[in-house]
Amino acid sequence: MSYAEVYQAWKNDPEGFWLEQARAIDWVEAPKQALFDRGDHIYEWFADAQVNTCYNAVDRHVEAGRGAQAAIIYDSPVTGTKRRITYAELQDQVAHFAGALAARGIEKGDRVIIYMPMIPETAVAMLACARLGAIHSVVFGGFASNELAVRIDDAKPKAVIAASCGIEPGRTVAYKPLLDGAIDLATHKPDFTVVFQRPELAAELTEGRDHDWTAFVEGAEAAPCVPVRGDHPVYILYTSGTTGAPKGVVRPTGGHLVALQWTMKNIYNVDPGEVFWAASDVGWVVGHSYIVYAPLIAGNTTVLFEGKPVGTPDASTFWRVIAEHDVKSFFTAPTAFRAVKREDPKAEMMAGHDISGLRAIYLAGERADPDTIEWAQKVTGKPIYDHWWQTETGWTIAGMPAGIEEMPVKIGSPSVPMPGYDVQVLDEGGHPVAPGELGAIAIRLPLPPGTLPTLWNAPERFRKSYLSHFPGYYETGDAGRVDEDGYLYIMARTDDVINVAGHRLSTGAMEEVLAGHPDVAECAVIGVADDFKGQLPMGFVCLTKGVNRPEAEIEAECVKRVRDQIGPVAAFKLCKVVDRLPKTRSGKILRRTMANIADGEAFRMPATIDDPAIVDEMRDALKTLGYPKG
Ligand code: COA
Ligand code: AMP
Repeated sequence: MSYAEVYQAWKNDPEGFWLEQARAIDWVEAPKQALFDRGDHIYEWFADAQVNTCYNAVDRHVEAGRGAQAAIIYDSPVTGTKRRITYAELQDQVAHFAGALAARGIEKGDRVIIYMPMIPETAVAMLACARLGAIHSVVFGGFASNELAVRIDDAKPKAVIAASCGIEPGRTVAYKPLLDGAIDLATHKPDFTVVFQRPELAAELTEGRDHDWTAFVEGAEAAPCVPVRGDHPVYILYTSGTTGAPKGVVRPTGGHLVALQWTMKNIYNVDPGEVFWAASDVGWVVGHSYIVYAPLIAGNTTVLFEGKPVGTPDASTFWRVIAEHDVKSFFTAPTAFRAVKREDPKAEMMAGHDISGLRAIYLAGERADPDTIEWAQKVTGKPIYDHWWQTETGWTIAGMPAGIEEMPVKIGSPSVPMPGYDVQVLDEGGHPVAPGELGAIAIRLPLPPGTLPTLWNAPERFRKSYLSHFPGYYETGDAGRVDEDGYLYIMARTDDVINVAGHRLSTGAMEEVLAGHPDVAECAVIGVADDFKGQLPMGFVCLTKGVNRPEAEIEAECVKRVRDQIGPVAAFKLCKVVDRLPKTRSGKILRRTMANIADGEAFRMPATIDDPAIVDEMRDALKTLGYPKG
């Protein structure tokens, strides 16, 4: 079947289409009905089924004779370690770790926070939770204590599973003090923690609360897989919204299994037994879906890579890993290729690494700029497929269905909508615009299996953030257009979310941190274009009357505050004290105009601006930060 035929088959009978795909999953009780309409535009998939995620990701492959196949290849240039873990070994480790958690009282529905780096034990911890029906929430290691504390207070975990440290090029990041700090800050206190002690840096454990991973598992019995309903959450993953409170995206078990299984062949074009590599981090949705769950659910071998595209040790690393492990499909963020291109523009370091087995490269997480795509195409000779999705959806909204049909690539477009997604470009009034015209991208409800049915603890916020603006649609927060052939083009966010090196961050959250500085009366954070990271955050602060300390000192304190309270991953390094901010007469800060000025873009002076003279003041302030570039 062609892509058009598959997409039409879904449109003709959406429920029949997904029930058919559901046959690839091993259910305890198979779904009789696909979609459950809960009223008021709330939907759930496979709610009448009983199933276990870990069984589908691990045990069923052992039972089917894949026990000796590598499930995970751990490749860690930062520690000089390589390890293959077979499906049988993974089953053994997961079942025993789950048994230890169960012995400590972890049950179906309990939340468990996981704060760990890119090591196999992180996947073991995630799968062990799923085995028990406990709901995990992985927190990215680049987030500071405060961010971890906010998630602890929202998810109210019974336990936190952590590692003693993460390893960044040139520095070891001690996780335990960050975890201790978070538990101190949080109102909710977990019953206990389990800490995986890495040889690079041991953590101090608190008697009675903290358990050493090895001792914790010793003597534990293997736990069986606990069946859960299809609509039971397998995990919560927090993502940035427009305020400092992150959104807890809920991932439902049944839809997650069905959708991810479908994607491995139809989008990533890999068959069971083949090696798949997503160079991301388990702390992000790409890591959840494509380092851990999807490749394991589909019986592939997944590469768990603890390193960076450059500097670990150099720009040959991607090529080395692809060649050494015979990777068939590779997934990364455009910024990673920009890093490689910057270090090794002619890809001379590819020499000696045979990547002929690789079929295609998939990019996501941020807009893929044409230069990067063309460069990657030229140096690898492989198809480069951009694809567009979000934490909320958990899998591709628009992409190239390479396992169905390799259609022409249009550079600058992540291609076409996947079955399940009726993507529309709408004007402010919610009416579809003509092909080629820009608008807000929305998806007609219901969303397909695997996507978020709600936000954890926040059904009203879910409704307000996604469903209320365009009734009958899910609002993606992205703006763009669609061409005559149905190819989508994603241009920009419509909200205050920015994308820094493929990491989704909230400028609102950074503003809250700056506003907390005792000398700051008012502030604004914008995203400015950056050749390397896509966007960088830039802050402007107005000081409280009477403060006359050196501005540079306050700017440095602001930078440190964001690093300490959000984390190094925010990459907040540009900050400037100004007398006033550009505003409308009604007092709304003109962030987009500020970003236009910083990017050196032509812009129309907003008719409602309070005082046009502010534009020159902004230009002067930006000049001191080196903007606009070039
Ligand atoms: N734990 C602790 N600190 C972390 C961290 C982690 N897991 N991940 C990143 N950090 C820190 C970094 O050390 C860095 O700190 P610094 O300011 O002291 O240098 C800061 O956070 C920013 O990190 P990063 O975004 O990784 O920038 P970088 O300049 O170190 O590296 C790239 C640039 C392009 C190599 C890197 O951003 C990258 O690999 N990006 C790919 C993104 C990706 O995979 N996204 C997932 C979506 S597909
Ligand atoms: P996240 O939830 O962290 O995956 O971030 C999702 C957001 O990243 C989207 O809403 C887009 O703004 C952006 N994004 C992800 N993939 C792409 C892509 N292929 N092209 C353009 N923007 C993208």
